[in-house]
Amino acid sequence: MPTELERVAAEAAGCTRCRLHESRTQVVFGQGDPHAELMFVGEAPGFHEDRQGLPFVGPSGQLLNRLLAGIGLRREDVYICNVVMSRPPRNRDPQPDEIAACRPWLDAQIRLVDPKVVVTLGNFAARTLLETSTGISRLRGRTHPFQGRVLLPTFHPAAALHAEGRRFTGQSPLQAMEEDFRTLARLLAERADADADAPDPAPAVEAAESEQLGLF
Ligand code: URA
Repeated sequence: MPTELERVAAEAAGCTRCRLHESRTQVVFGQGDPHAELMFVGEAPGFHEDRQGLPFVGPSGQLLNRLLAGIGLRREDVYICNVVMSRPPRNRDPQPDEIAACRPWLDAQIRLVDPKVVVTLGNFAARTLLETSTGISRLRGRTHPFQGRVLLPTFHPAAALHAEGRRFTGQSPLQAMEEDFRTLARLLAERADADADAPDPAPAVEAAESEQLGLF
């Protein structure tokens, strides 16, 4: 029996809700742990993703892998998806109607994976999920409430790659991303501590059941 997420992925594979279906090679659905605590949301597939049918497998994906490894995580530990699942021609920005057409697929993935923490990569993902026109430079570096979860915006890896070799008076985009990933690691550690400290409901239930059985 396919899971609900697999069923949605199969349905999304034939999506023709926006014009991007005319030029894409294939739909790039999310990939990773279907029960991940941590979800990354990027912008749209690029050349390599369109060819391979997997998110973040090109240069941006390699940087994402390195940033994940820096905080002790592997791709398999997280879930990675995009705001738009079909590659825009020549990697142009996704248009508002394309983002809106793809939104139900993104919402379904968020609902079914049910992550505790969502990290948005770049302007489009942050603005789409936070429903704001504020730019990523002002949004990043702190958490935002999102559907009962925590959302941490950071730059898109492509922005960090693009800026490589340039001089910055303050932080470079890559340094900012590294800082955001350290924030992410702290956030995940705090959540793990809070989960460990939470009272285990099982003994109370067992006690109640034992009482019913007249064992006390
Ligand atoms: N950039 C994105 O935003 N998503 C991908 O999957 C690849 C590159």
